Amino acid sequence: MRSEHSLQRRLGLGLTLGVTLLWLVAVAVSGLVVRYELNKVFDSALEETAQRILPLAVVEVINRDAATTPQRILPLAAHDEHLTYLVQDAAGNTLLHSHSADRQVFGTQPHTGFVSTPTHRIYGAAAVRETFWIQVAEPLAHRRKAALEVIGALLWPLTLLIPLSLAGTWWLVRNSLRRVRDYRNAITAKGAGDLSAVRAEHLPTEIEPIAVAVNQLLELLRRTLEAEQSFTANSAHELRTPLATALAQVQRLEQELPTGPQLDKARQIEATLRSLSRLSESLMQLAKAEGGRLLSDQPQDLVPVLVLVVDELRRNARVPIQLDLPEGGILSSTLDPDAFAILLRNLIDNALKYGAAEQPVSVRLAPEGILRVINAGPVVPTEALPRLRSRFVRATSDVPGSGLGLAIVDRIAAGAGATLQICSPASGRTDGFEVVFDFHNTVI
Ligand SMILES: Nc1ncnc2c1ncn2[C@@H]1O[C@H](COP(=O)(O)OP(=O)(O)O)[C@@H](O)[C@H]1O
Ligand SMILES: [Mg+2]
Repeated sequence: MRSEHSLQRRLGLGLTLGVTLLWLVAVAVSGLVVRYELNKVFDSALEETAQRILPLAVVEVINRDAATTPQRILPLAAHDEHLTYLVQDAAGNTLLHSHSADRQVFGTQPHTGFVSTPTHRIYGAAAVRETFWIQVAEPLAHRRKAALEVIGALLWPLTLLIPLSLAGTWWLVRNSLRRVRDYRNAITAKGAGDLSAVRAEHLPTEIEPIAVAVNQLLELLRRTLEAEQSFTANSAHELRTPLATALAQVQRLEQELPTGPQLDKARQIEATLRSLSRLSESLMQLAKAEGGRLLSDQPQDLVPVLVLVVDELRRNARVPIQLDLPEGGILSSTLDPDAFAILLRNLIDNALKYGAAEQPVSVRLAPEGILRVINAGPVVPTEALPRLRSRFVRATSDVPGSGLGLAIVDRIAAGAGATLQICSPASGRTDGFEVVFDFHNTVI
């Protein structure tokens, strides 16, 4: 799973970002509401204080002897003042003020009602036909601090919310995708040639139709391939007996015919029947190679198979076959011995057929599971090499053949999960042809 495309990562980040943004919007809106409400409460407190103090101050000032000397109200105990007040007469002379009232804050002219300065909120009221004025001031910083504390308290949960949301989404998505992951693993665990249905249980409803469609497709593919393979195998098999009978009859006819044009014709018919019989044999091999089941559960020693096939081919070979076996003489592999024999026959047969006359064919089996079949001869053009694996494709027309040999070998390699390399010229030479069959994956 590439991490930038991971659903888990996307949902985790996206949802966390969304939740954080929503929370911030909620905090901002709450901040505005809180500020509005706090202002209302503080204003009301300011108004209440002014209206409570003013009558007391008036009585105090009237009862005083020297009414024009400003009087500072001494604090009962040392404390910070959030509210400061100033009592003035109509001319603007200060009659009374709280102990830490700052004259600068209140302005020159007294007024009634609320006024905001850059630093303070001031409420003014008048009494006794506007001969006594009171102004109560409250620093705005005090209100701001209160609002900020509320917003701060609302922001704190974010430190918990972000990791919780990340972890929660991660866990939830991971848990919800567990079945999808199982399904993915089931698909990847299947070999390339395994067309059996993929087990899909308890998949999310969004994914289930995909699994059903995949299984239907696999089933269709399997049936089509089986039909094609069984058709090839059956028709090749059905051709075998009539071909053998026809061949036997032609051979008998040849014995009865005197030398002459009729015998030549009979010999031509025999050659055609033989190549037909080889073709039907190749088709059967191809059907086996494509039919799968090229690996067995029990590993077997493949060296005797190689020795047997080489001995058999040596009997009719024009050139010697050099055989290099692994040290110890054992190569245990799960590759099906029949498939290995078919592969060997096709490769060595090609080397004998297309190799240069009087130059040996070399067959080497390395202990790690690499087979090389090398022959001398003219170089096959590089651009023609990849196509030789296709059915009925040939690079020569001088020697008869069907063009199926390398296709069979290629199918066996693919079915066994092995690799096949075709090179010309052969490695370390300037001419010849080399086929490397690397089946180390099957070696035990
Ligand atoms: N050992 C080889 N040396 C040279 N050419 C080869 C060799 N093996 C295969 N070829 C080329 O690849 C072609 C395809 O081979 P193959 O599939 O076995 O079909 P066929 O042998 O029936 O022609 C051959 O026609 C030949 O041109
Ligand atoms: Mg061939």
